[in-house]
Amino acid sequence: MKYRKLGRTNFEVGEIGYGAWGIGASQWLGGSDKESLAALRRAIELGLNFIDTALAYGNGHSEKLVAQVVRDAGRRIYVATKVPPKNLLWPAQPGIGIAEVFPYDYILRSTERSLKNLGVETIDLLQLHVWNPEWIGNDEWRRAFAELKSSGKVRAVGISINDHQPDSALEIIETGLIDTVQVIYNIFDQSPERNLFPLAIERGIGVIARVPLDEGSLTGMIDEKTHFPPGDFRNEYFKGDRRKQVREHVESLRRDLGAHANLPEIALRFCLSHPAVSTVIPGMRSLRNAEANCAVPDKGALPPETLAVLRRHAWDRNFYD
Ligand SMILES: NC(=O)c1ccc[n+]([C@@H]2O[C@H](COP(=O)([O-])OP(=O)(O)OC[C@H]3O[C@@H](n4cnc5c(N)ncnc54)[C@H](OP(=O)(O)O)[C@@H]3O)[C@@H](O)[C@H]2O)c1
Repeated sequence: MKYRKLGRTNFEVGEIGYGAWGIGASQWLGGSDKESLAALRRAIELGLNFIDTALAYGNGHSEKLVAQVVRDAGRRIYVATKVPPKNLLWPAQPGIGIAEVFPYDYILRSTERSLKNLGVETIDLLQLHVWNPEWIGNDEWRRAFAELKSSGKVRAVGISINDHQPDSALEIIETGLIDTVQVIYNIFDQSPERNLFPLAIERGIGVIARVPLDEGSLTGMIDEKTHFPPGDFRNEYFKGDRRKQVREHVESLRRDLGAHANLPEIALRFCLSHPAVSTVIPGMRSLRNAEANCAVPDKGALPPETLAVLRRHAWDRNFYD
């Protein structure tokens, strides 16, 4: 593992962090707690020290599994969690005011629940799980963040940016009131490079790159024959002819990279090749994937010629719709 500073915080976080949505087991199905715990423990043995969870992931289930592992990790593990929108609407919708989504008291109450689930007195990083730039001048989030920091209940604060809308975070970064942003960044969605990343570097904002494997597309394992368990969110994400679209894009990527290219490894190294990125957080419920991903930092950044090939594979679409 190699480590980077998480923006202006003093957290030295592993280049590979742990995306703990899947282990919440409410929207990603087909795994088991036993397997998830083993994968997370193995990742920590391999040097991983940053975990991204959320109260919404299994209504606290992911946070509780994380707590079990962190408790006996034997060394400092940084945990980030999130306040779910009160109206339970992902992503944030234009025109819906902050009073319905993140009122001051609600942010504080939600944080208390996360503190309890995580079994800690202080949360390292608290993120709002959606963000709408229309709330920029509003007092609710500003007062809540200030109160939580001054009472010692959170060390750092940030936002998780709406899917494929990196520029919606530019204004809140300019306020100087947040420490991190979490954003979709992968070979298909390279859009944060345009405006978000330069500003994050300039302002010392930590960048958490999420969905680095495009929910599985960039593992190269999804095609028309792929089935997900009933109720699994990927049935929606890869609905209709999307599995075919994914297969075609991935085949084209493989043609350009060469038959022996290790796609998940290249997808993670792509994210780590950008200096704005502090940590990349793949979901990895299996031991095999945890081991493979934690070995990626040792391979270093991708060479410029490979990055030039990947530039051609940006793919503008929104499968979360
Ligand atoms: N709005 C938000 O704030 C938001 C939204 C989405 C995600 N996130 C965060 O971002 C994290 C990452 O995104 P994600 O988990 O949705 O998707 P992802 O990381 O893009 O993809 C996860 C998938 O890739 C598989 N995988 C991982 N490493 C692999 C490897 N080396 N080889 C083959 N397959 C591999 C995983 O398998 P197994 O799990 O079976 O091992 C899983 O099926 C989440 O866990 C969550 O923390 C946040």
